[in-house]
Amino acid sequence: MAILKIARIGHPVLAGIAQRVEDPMAPAVRGLITDMVETMLDAPGVGLSAPQVHVPARIVVFEVPENHDTENGGVPLTVLINPEVEPLSEEMEEGVEGCLSLPGMAGRVLRYTKIRYRGLNPAGDAIERVAEDYHARVVQHECDHLDGILYPMRMTDLTSFGYIEEMTKALDENAVDEAEAAEPEAADA
Ligand code: NI
Repeated sequence: MAILKIARIGHPVLAGIAQRVEDPMAPAVRGLITDMVETMLDAPGVGLSAPQVHVPARIVVFEVPENHDTENGGVPLTVLINPEVEPLSEEMEEGVEGCLSLPGMAGRVLRYTKIRYRGLNPAGDAIERVAEDYHARVVQHECDHLDGILYPMRMTDLTSFGYIEEMTKALDENAVDEAEAAEPEAADA
């Protein structure tokens, strides 16, 4: 068990295409997953991908607390090996995202509102789920990491991108209504 160092934007490991995991039950994979979960919980974050801890492998972990997904009651700790994501409709929605690889920052990102995802768990069993809203957002964010995509690369309007501290300050000063633009719980993933 170890808390791993998290790569920040600019590190080449975040820009590459991660490799498929050939043996999900290999001891090295099991150890990596244990450390990824520990690192995510310590950060804290709602999700983490292997490239973010300097390992270019197709593994993501996530756990959505109930208070981030009140409609669906959260998502228990999930490990996905070699995940695949398929949108189930064309509908997309903007929402605030943060990322452990861009500490202190947030921005609004368009994501599919309903997806199906598949992958293997650490026992090598297939997982298949339909996800909506925040759950779907987290999975899309994490799986993007496996293809070298960070959330700012998905943004269509960079005016909502910045340091949470500055955006929160600006909101306090202007007392505007758009508190969502700097949701303090723009959870890192
Ligand atoms: Ni991220």
